[in-house]
Amino acid sequence: MIHLQGVSKSYSRGEHAVLACAVDRLDVEAGEQVALVGRSGTGKTTLLHILAGILCADAGEVAVVGERLDQLGEAARDRHRGRHIGMVYQTFNLLQPFTALENVLMGALFGRGAAGDARDRAEALLREVGLADRMHHRPAELSVGQVQRVAICRALINDPELVLMDEPLGNQDRATGGQVLDLMLKIASEQKKTVVMVTHDPASAERMQRTVDLATLRGQEAAT
Ligand SMILES: Nc1ncnc2c1ncn2[C@@H]1O[C@H](COP(=O)(O)OP(=O)(O)O)[C@@H](O)[C@H]1O
Ligand SMILES: [Mg+2]
Repeated sequence: MIHLQGVSKSYSRGEHAVLACAVDRLDVEAGEQVALVGRSGTGKTTLLHILAGILCADAGEVAVVGERLDQLGEAARDRHRGRHIGMVYQTFNLLQPFTALENVLMGALFGRGAAGDARDRAEALLREVGLADRMHHRPAELSVGQVQRVAICRALINDPELVLMDEPLGNQDRATGGQVLDLMLKIASEQKKTVVMVTHDPASAERMQRTVDLATLRGQEAAT
């Protein structure tokens, strides 16, 4: 499902290049649920964005859901993401003027399904995460936990094989966060989805099948 080899990404800061992310090798099998951990600033968000094809690595092999993203242009990567990858952003990125239902449906614009089915599916997802009575609320009228659940529904609307989540439970109390994670993992298991979730919460990481520490993925060269 995922195969990375010799991947690195730097940002230039004036004359200096800052290494944001380096992965010697990473493999994730289809159906695996992986927690991605590491201190703040170690490149977790950068790595998720490379996996999603939002960012392009400077070097290395990036194979995700059957495509070599490092060999595709931006438009092709966007299309691939719309069809195969669901992303829950660290900051959720919901569109404020639109309702919860509309935000979830927005995700379907980039997918492969028919529009008519999308509405039924969006409503079913929102019901499943306990937002049956909040579908027509805008993000500002929802709690942080509810916004996170809407973002998860939007990530799932195209029935992606791979779900990427960037600390999706970071702003919730443990009970609520645990419930959302339970729900997410239940949906993922039932539908045999592969999940990579960035988290700094050890209890959340423990719920996943495997934990990968970004610090251990760096090649010798990058570590020095
Ligand atoms: N757009 C950017 N421009 C310059 N540096 C960046 C940018 N985005 C991230 N970085 C730097 O790259 C490193 C990794 O960032 P990030 O992937 O957000 O880490 P994490 O998610 O693990 O906290 C950090 O040192 C950060 O300052
Ligand atoms: Mg981050």
